[in-house]
Amino acid sequence: PQKIILDCDPGHDDAVAMLLAHGSPAIELLAVTTVMGNQTIEKVTRNALSVARVIGMDAVPIARGAHRPLVRTVETAPDIHGESGLDGPVLPEPAVALDPRHAVDLIIDTVMSHPPQTVSLVPTGALTNIALAVRKEPRLAERVKQVVLMGGGVHVGNWSAVAEFNIIIDPEAAHIVFNEPWPLTMIGLDATHQALATDEVAARIAAVGTAPARFVGELLEFFAHSYKDAQGFDHPPVHDPCAVAYLIDPTLLRVVTAPLDVELTGGLTLGMTVADLRGPAPEGCTTQVALDIDNDRFWDLVVDALVRIGAV
Ligand code: BDR
Ligand code: CA
Repeated sequence: PQKIILDCDPGHDDAVAMLLAHGSPAIELLAVTTVMGNQTIEKVTRNALSVARVIGMDAVPIARGAHRPLVRTVETAPDIHGESGLDGPVLPEPAVALDPRHAVDLIIDTVMSHPPQTVSLVPTGALTNIALAVRKEPRLAERVKQVVLMGGGVHVGNWSAVAEFNIIIDPEAAHIVFNEPWPLTMIGLDATHQALATDEVAARIAAVGTAPARFVGELLEFFAHSYKDAQGFDHPPVHDPCAVAYLIDPTLLRVVTAPLDVELTGGLTLGMTVADLRGPAPEGCTTQVALDIDNDRFWDLVVDALVRIGAV
């Protein structure tokens, strides 16, 4: 299995990413770390602990990370994720304690205690923790196997005309992460806007019939309403598990190698992820971007993970 650290801000789609990572036999989830984003660090950290309880994830360390972006002030997304960051279902009291370390230290300790190039980082929120980690421990840049992140978009934005939420809320952190030499795959809006939770998907999840499946059903119902009201979608795009799905089966996504960078100075384009798709990519290019996903096979993985997790 692929060893991963999931760095997230749960968040409806982050919660689905957690369950996919926990339930898939192709993934060994080494740690979950949290970062402010969809809500404050207190709220998303509590949400991570609640989700862990719902899906029976009791042996994976969970650590709290950055409470604000590197340079900018905190910007949350209550229109999409509600006041709790995970509105919709009842959130159970956490059953496990937080790891006492800061997320940055848990990331560093975990990567450095495994053999080189065996641990992948999977950020599905702002890149603040990952940027801080590689600044604190520069050897991470060679030690990490790869970074597979949800964020950005080549042809579309969601928080501005050209920028995506995870990138624009901490563009300086994103700039650091995109410019390290580690292999980096950006799973952005081009692909994740295809990962829609249609009515058929909701029915498949309901048919699993367990408490964790009902929890996901309630999450997706809230997410559907907010994505309709705030962004005009008929069905909500479930972004974050797409990054986990790439680790499980990279053939699910169409990925192209291309130079990628993050705009820090543009007046209209702050936080835009710029991909040079003119091709062919220069020799030694370490970045790639996903442009399409096979939605049916993606949901097969999520349903399979729910079935394996069982009734808890
Ligand atoms: C990203 O922003 C967050 O609201 C979601 O959890 C996802 O990571 C999509 O732009
Ligand atoms: Ca997220």
